[in-house]
Amino acid sequence: MSHITLVLTGKDFEENQSYLDSYRGQIDLAELRLDCLDTVKEGKAQDRDVLEAFVKNSPVPLILTVRRSCDGGFYEGDEAKRLKLYSDFIPLGFGYVDLEDDLEPSLVEEAEKTAREAGVRIIRSFHDFKGFPDNLAQRMKSNIKEDDIPKAAVTLNHSREIVPFLEAAAELKGQDKIILAMGERGYFSRILAERLGSFLSFTSPAQGVMGAPGHMDPTLLIERYRFRDLKADWPLYGVIGNPIIQSRSPELHNNWLKQAGLPGVYIPFLLDDIEDLIPMDNILDFGGLSVTLPFKEKLITVLDEPSLAVKKIGASNTYYKKNGRRLGENTDAPGFLYPLLDSMGIDRRASRPLEGKKCTVIGAGGASRAILFALTNAGAEVLILNRTAEKAEKLAAEFSVQSGTLSSESIPLMEEFSDIIVQTTNAGMPPQEEQDPIDFYEFKGREFVYDIVYKPAVTVMMDRAAKAGCTVLGGWEMLREQGMVQFELFTGEAVPKGKA
Ligand code: ATR
Repeated sequence: MSHITLVLTGKDFEENQSYLDSYRGQIDLAELRLDCLDTVKEGKAQDRDVLEAFVKNSPVPLILTVRRSCDGGFYEGDEAKRLKLYSDFIPLGFGYVDLEDDLEPSLVEEAEKTAREAGVRIIRSFHDFKGFPDNLAQRMKSNIKEDDIPKAAVTLNHSREIVPFLEAAAELKGQDKIILAMGERGYFSRILAERLGSFLSFTSPAQGVMGAPGHMDPTLLIERYRFRDLKADWPLYGVIGNPIIQSRSPELHNNWLKQAGLPGVYIPFLLDDIEDLIPMDNILDFGGLSVTLPFKEKLITVLDEPSLAVKKIGASNTYYKKNGRRLGENTDAPGFLYPLLDSMGIDRRASRPLEGKKCTVIGAGGASRAILFALTNAGAEVLILNRTAEKAEKLAAEFSVQSGTLSSESIPLMEEFSDIIVQTTNAGMPPQEEQDPIDFYEFKGREFVYDIVYKPAVTVMMDRAAKAGCTVLGGWEMLREQGMVQFELFTGEAVPKGKA
């Protein structure tokens, strides 16, 4: 079992105690980062009794660490003094001590001896904030002495490094070790500690200083990523994109997996190049992936079989496998259509459910293509308006619909295509949240207005439409629905009813 370890980065013991209290019952270990204490930072003597009382009262075993600034810590003082802190404090009841693997043997000898005599397990650590060495597994192996735990905290500068990192972890299979990748590209390593065979996963308090780049807090690790239940052989799902940390998909999919009682975890992966996907899949064997910007168009290049929708839309937001074949689907189209039909009281199963409806689509970018596909397949007649008229014309020709410019000149055409108005551009979302792309158009109050922006929940345009009496729909429903369609492709099961 991999241990959830809270890194205590408080400036004093009172602060550290508050962190221990906040996460009581959620953590297995805590790392007391002496270098974060004001006393140590300021080079003052640390009160031994206060420290001893804190260690003795801790509800979980503690790791003693005085991290140097070159390893991401705050200790900048004299090295001999730092090692003296170790020798002095190791016997106070710590369970583990972190000693770097590059220390001068004569300097570290006493701390090592004290630790062994006190039965305190040594974590032999190596940190690389710039990258990671080719011989990572070798370096870790050379740190295995007695029952010491080798630790490597490295940095992935590109997603192509994920595979060698995983291979290094696999080379030390069965060995007690701590292996993790820092930063956003290594986020998965915090969650998959059990699968990597890592003795622990470090976390930081939600408030306060983060112990190292990429930490999450214990509650998130336990509640969203089901760290306590997660088994090494659980199916792995996720979302690939760049940037990715803001994605709402992990929250949605992990909740659905939990509610459906299915094994599996869904993780955000920061990807730099779509070419890295297949080597990663060969080792991680994804049960399915959501695909977001900027890879929706590029995913097709690595698929065995794009769906017809993917071919027509030219973009895919879903990667999954069936009978060993790599498939791509576009669930943005049904994800867009279903909430619209539901809101309009139209049966989803109807053939050509929007027959006779005339719609205006604002925007001619990637999102607009999936929407045009959905609307035209559903039988709607469509008008595309775009700031850059040529893009609207080109897209209109592809889907055999009408087009126009995004200006007051188009008002007569819009009035004709006004059963449904769909907004697909970035106008209305930060940093353009004040913008209303059709401020020249006066709503009559009978239009159905659908803005696919989900943050903010109500855009300036939606607000104006609602005030005019229109029925309005925001993008959150689309985001949730496209995920629900993916969930079914990934797991073969529908999202439990009433749980969405
Ligand atoms: P997406 O994949 O989200 O659709 P995209 O392919 O970059 O993103 O397309 C962005 C769309 O938003 C385009 O239609 C763009 O108009 P242009 O083609 O004229 O660039 C539109 N857009 C972005 N900001 C806009 C704004 N402030 N007002 C109107 N349209 C805007």
